[in-house]
Amino acid sequence: MAIRKVARMGNPVLRTKARELTPGEIQSPEVQRLIDDMVETLREYDGVGLAAPQVHEPLRISVVEFSASNPRYDIGAGQGLTVYVNPRVTVLDPTEEGLWEGCLSVPGLKGWVMRPRKIRVESLDRHAKPVTITAEGFLATVLQHEFDHLDGVLYVDRIKDKAKFAFAEELAKFRLAAEDL
Ligand code: NI
Repeated sequence: MAIRKVARMGNPVLRTKARELTPGEIQSPEVQRLIDDMVETLREYDGVGLAAPQVHEPLRISVVEFSASNPRYDIGAGQGLTVYVNPRVTVLDPTEEGLWEGCLSVPGLKGWVMRPRKIRVESLDRHAKPVTITAEGFLATVLQHEFDHLDGVLYVDRIKDKAKFAFAEELAKFRLAAEDL
């Protein structure tokens, strides 16, 4: 396993529409190694999710894992490691909820983004087995953020009020985000 370099905003790979993988490709040693490296990279940077384009691979893979003690977010419950390949999202409740989002590809910044509060995700796991889950709250936000990466979309594209785009350090200093996290 290896920690991979994370692409930052401005790198064209983050604006590329990633392609789907076949079941055979998913189970190949190369893709299994990529998934292992994505997990190691996610943990190294204390992220909550990471998409393959962020490590320079335009493939439809995202990994998500977070604990209640994540230093970058204040969240109530954790989520065990989950790998999503070729995910498809259906909105179950379009009521939007807001969160101060950050991204390992946009270091040091956070922005207020509104997204549907409840979704269903149909995807393949790392063994190419179909999995369907429903997600709401923080997990629903994280998944939508990670799957946006697969379409070349960054959370900054979804900030409606540009006054709510700021350095995380300043947000913490002035406590602007405290009540929302
Ligand atoms: Ni991101």
